[in-house]
Amino acid sequence: MPGGCSRGPAAGDGRLRLARLALVLLGWVSSSSLTSSAPSTSSTSFLASAVSAQPPLPGQCPQLCECSEAARTVKCVNRNLTEVPADLPPYVRNLFLTGNQLAVLPAGAFARRPPLAELAALNLSGSRLQEVRAGAFEHLPSLRQLDLSHNPLAHLSPFTFSGSNASFSAPSPLVELMLNHVVPPEDHRQNRSFEGMVAASLRAGHALRGLQRLELASNHFLFLPRDVLAHLPGLRHLDLRNNSLVSLTYVSFRNLTHLQSLHLEDNALKVLHNGTLAELQSLPHVRVFLDNNPWVCDCHMVDMVAWLKETEVVQGKARLACAFPEKMRNRALLELNSSHLECDPILPPSLQTSYVFLGIVLALIGAIFLLVLYLNRKGIKKWMHNIRDACRDHMEGYHYRYEINADPRLTNLSSNSDV
Ligand SMILES: *[C@@H]1O[C@H](CO)[C@@H](O)[C@H](O)[C@H]1NC(C)=O
Ligand SMILES: *[C@@H]1O[C@H](CO)[C@@H](O)[C@H](O)[C@H]1NC(C)=O
Ligand SMILES: *[C@@H]1O[C@H](CO)[C@@H](O)[C@H](O)[C@H]1NC(C)=O
Ligand SMILES: *[C@@H]1O[C@H](CO)[C@@H](O)[C@H](O)[C@H]1NC(C)=O
Ligand SMILES: *[C@@H]1O[C@H](CO)[C@@H](O)[C@H](O)[C@H]1NC(C)=O
Ligand SMILES: *[C@@H]1O[C@H](CO)[C@@H](O)[C@H](O)[C@H]1NC(C)=O
Ligand SMILES: *[C@@H]1O[C@H](CO)[C@@H](O)[C@H](O)[C@H]1NC(C)=O
Ligand SMILES: *[C@@H]1O[C@H](CO)[C@@H](O)[C@H](O)[C@H]1NC(C)=O
Repeated sequence: MPGGCSRGPAAGDGRLRLARLALVLLGWVSSSSLTSSAPSTSSTSFLASAVSAQPPLPGQCPQLCECSEAARTVKCVNRNLTEVPADLPPYVRNLFLTGNQLAVLPAGAFARRPPLAELAALNLSGSRLQEVRAGAFEHLPSLRQLDLSHNPLAHLSPFTFSGSNASFSAPSPLVELMLNHVVPPEDHRQNRSFEGMVAASLRAGHALRGLQRLELASNHFLFLPRDVLAHLPGLRHLDLRNNSLVSLTYVSFRNLTHLQSLHLEDNALKVLHNGTLAELQSLPHVRVFLDNNPWVCDCHMVDMVAWLKETEVVQGKARLACAFPEKMRNRALLELNSSHLECDPILPPSLQTSYVFLGIVLALIGAIFLLVLYLNRKGIKKWMHNIRDACRDHMEGYHYRYEINADPRLTNLSSNSDV
């Protein structure tokens, strides 16, 4: 890697010096003929245009891209590219491939010969990526920052960051990973959970143990898979804002001893429980952001309110306010005390659950009764027939007697016989 680096720039410098000499000569010729223009300014502007229009080195600039060797930057922005250009110059350190139509990023999409040994920042934001395959970022030994935000990632391989060699996974050099708003539209999602898919890629092979910044904002996350954070021990910044997290009860922050900022704004958090409060309190450097969550101010909020009053961990804690119940709406959490925080006394939760249980039992009994009726439908039919027949016999007997009684002849007969 060092050999590759030192040769490129050195050769470039040589050519630059030659170019500058030529331009200075040219400027001198033109200034001497026109007499008025200043040679120094004209030569520098010439030089700038020469560098951007015609990059030196075998690393030519790919079509539809802009290259600056001086800034070590290649930009292929808003070009509707459908694949990663093959002829990226080897000096590239910052690569922008935003606003394209890449759709699929295959294995080794950036593997080149010689490798792009200097590529440190890769921005693939908003390029309509739907699938990132195993080892898509392999052979990029210096890649520190990767932005995959604003792509509808329906298929993210678990081996995206760990590499496709299942028997050997090298640690990833990534330090910053942006995965904001990568949730695909509802109908493009796989059967498995989106949270699970992202988590699998973050965990695989412990490859991201050097990661310091992880952004997962605006992804509709309903939960944070339990063991994701355990595989990211180096995290300093975790951004989970604008998701749909309801609870942090099953998440552990305990091992994130380097964590400095934790963004949880704009989620659906109702309360933080003792376990989470203790873990956050135990992290030495952390600042937690909790604005715009629908806090529920009932008896379960007592511990969190007590903690908030003491802690320095939460930024802007005075802004946190209740969303429920109705009578508590917009009350600041910090101004509550336990006398405000009650659960409905008429139906305490335990009783509520017992009523629910009773309802379920009754429904079950009803269902079983109906099932028994259904299974015995033949017997019941027979039974009904028997009853009907019995009734009919009885009724016919009655009818018969009635008819006998009603028939004047028979009446006479009977009366006669009586007589
Ligand atoms: C990219 O595609 C869009 C729509 O398909 C079009 O409006 C736009 O002009 C294209 N841009 C380029 C640079 O071709
Ligand atoms: C990547 O590019 C997008 C679009 O230009 C930009 O908004 C974003 O900030 C860039 N990401 C990084 C890490 O600079
Ligand atoms: C996987 O990596 C190991 C160790 O670097 C190497 O020996 C092996 O050949 C690799 N396998 C493949 C399929 O690349
Ligand atoms: C979802 O599961 C069904 C059946 O298990 C399968 O046929 C279908 O292809 C799956 N869809 C996706 C997007 O994986
Ligand atoms: C929040 O997330 C949703 C969906 O993920 C997105 O449409 C919206 O723009 C995001 N809002 C902000 C302020 O980022
Ligand atoms: C924290 O780290 C310790 C040792 O490194 C490990 O044994 C433990 O399982 C980790 N706990 C969690 C919740 O990740
Ligand atoms: C939470 O912790 C506080 C103080 O450590 C304790 O008084 C309280 O009973 C705990 N709450 C629960 C629900 O365990
Ligand atoms: C709780 O607040 C009410 C009014 O805000 C106050 O009268 C009461 O003394 C407080 N109770 C405690 C224990 O601080």
